Amino acid sequence: MPTVRDIRAQAGDEPITMLTAYDAPTAEIVDEAGVDVVLVGDSLGNASLGYETTLPVTVDDVARHVGAVVRATDDALVVADMPFLSFGVDEADSIENAGRMLKEEGAQAVKLETGPHTVSLTERMVQLGIPVMAHLGLTPQHVNQYGGYPRQGTDQDGAERILDLARAHEDAGAFALVLEHVPSNLAADVTDALEIPTIGIGAGPDCDGQVLVVDDAVGLSSWSPSFSKQFGSVREEMSSAVEEYVSAVESGEFPGEEHSHEEGDLEDVY
Ligand code: KIV
Ligand code: NA
Repeated sequence: MPTVRDIRAQAGDEPITMLTAYDAPTAEIVDEAGVDVVLVGDSLGNASLGYETTLPVTVDDVARHVGAVVRATDDALVVADMPFLSFGVDEADSIENAGRMLKEEGAQAVKLETGPHTVSLTERMVQLGIPVMAHLGLTPQHVNQYGGYPRQGTDQDGAERILDLARAHEDAGAFALVLEHVPSNLAADVTDALEIPTIGIGAGPDCDGQVLVVDDAVGLSSWSPSFSKQFGSVREEMSSAVEEYVSAVESGEFPGEEHSHEEGDLEDVY
């Protein structure tokens, strides 16, 4: 059962595997496959709740799904993603919201989309016993600021900002760092510069670990980003099962004798 200390110590060692999960059966599959870290991402909004962006996701939404994932996970570290505006506005509220994920739902850490404003917040959370995973590079909660989801750190200034922010969060006590959608050479530089592990998504092969949205990885999403890879075709598999069910009911083939049970001594009720 990895702890945040084990994950931190895994930097430069065996690659860290991380996937999202939002529900119990998926968490069970991911955990049994030996994934090190299960992230209840705010990608929940897009993947499971039908939203266009992650912005509408609430603390209640994430908390409910964290509970489901924790109940189904035996081995992996469970990290709760803090949703848009649930942290960083007011320190006490931020800590209460993050603390709830550990205290009420059983997560072992939280993830924050970082900026200069989350350095002291990270330090405070870590002091209080809330381990923090820092998320840098493309931070999807800034979609309205970016006007989309562009790659980050593509010029010297941007790259330096990311490197500085990474160092600041390491110093503040973050145990790991997610690097999203940045050039691979920048991800390699950040990985070299830090002691704590980097976990990349769209950040090339040189991070200490990799993370994907599980729906993208198993081929359940109707759309997935170009940096993602489908390792299965769950959507096709589900579609064909559902189509078969529909045609079996329509044709009268289901339920058959073997799915039906007659009670021998039941009186005619009419
Ligand atoms: O919400 C999420 O799934 C994430 C990962 C992509 C890192 O933040
Ligand atoms: Na997220």
